[in-house]
Amino acid sequence: MENNKKYFEANKFAWDQRTEVHVKSDFYNVEAFKNGASTLEPMVKDELTEVKDKSILHLQCHFGMDTLSLARMGAKVTGVDLSSKSIEFAESLSKECQIPARFIQSNVLTLKETLDEKFDIVFTSFGAICWLPNIDEWAEIVSHFLKPGGTIYLAEFHPYLYMWDWDSKEIMYPYFCKGQVFHEKAEGTYTDGDKGLSYDEYFWIHAISDVHTALQNNNINIEFLHEFDYTPHECLSNLEKRADREFVYKINGHAIPAVFSMKGCKQ
Ligand SMILES: C[S@@+](CC[C@H](N)C(=O)[O-])C[C@H]1O[C@@H](n2cnc3c(N)ncnc32)[C@H](O)[C@@H]1O
Repeated sequence: MENNKKYFEANKFAWDQRTEVHVKSDFYNVEAFKNGASTLEPMVKDELTEVKDKSILHLQCHFGMDTLSLARMGAKVTGVDLSSKSIEFAESLSKECQIPARFIQSNVLTLKETLDEKFDIVFTSFGAICWLPNIDEWAEIVSHFLKPGGTIYLAEFHPYLYMWDWDSKEIMYPYFCKGQVFHEKAEGTYTDGDKGLSYDEYFWIHAISDVHTALQNNNINIEFLHEFDYTPHECLSNLEKRADREFVYKINGHAIPAVFSMKGCKQ
């Protein structure tokens, strides 16, 4: 944790900046959410069923619309995020929409210091684990917060997609790079392009087998692992729309793996 402090500080700054733009973006469409729309992706709704009356810990909840969408389905929700701007906005949205929820500003990796509770479900999705240096540590934390018999559900961008420079369509990063930090000087954000934002960000790429093994090593039985050749979000350059909420990234005419999902049960 101490070793990575400068990375987390930079990433917090980056996500605070991004949040200010995201909450006003068409991409996130807060107005539609306020009018009752769910922000959960179709694959999440299909695969994470039975949330009614369940306690859910949503790790890296950003500004809370997925968390609150789960609450609208009858779950008792707690959202956690590193960005204080995200948490402030999530709390105001919860109040304005009168959806009960608890939000905690914390690094996932230090969450045990502020939260002492066990949950039926731990949920995390789309662009979350790449901000964490050590997937074994993450899996230990997931397991810690689950009740016996509880469920972890994860839907994430595929690590193979992260290998590509999305503009040039050249391979830019390795797949097998456990623990290796990558740095980018970013301008703008995925919702709006350049809005005068400029920041450093630090990220990590986790091979699917590392995520799978890390969960299994922490008493979690994997029920399924699915791979998808599309993303439900139009969030990178050079994506082609194939169907409603299906965007593909093609190399030599072939849609490459874009998303994976995993569900596991704590023993
Ligand atoms: C792409 S968003 C998550 C996506 C979410 N599904 C959404 O679009 O609403 C990534 C989130 O991870 C958070 N984050 C990054 N590093 C974190 C950390 N170490 N602990 C907790 N949250 C972190 C960021 O603040 C950001 O809100």
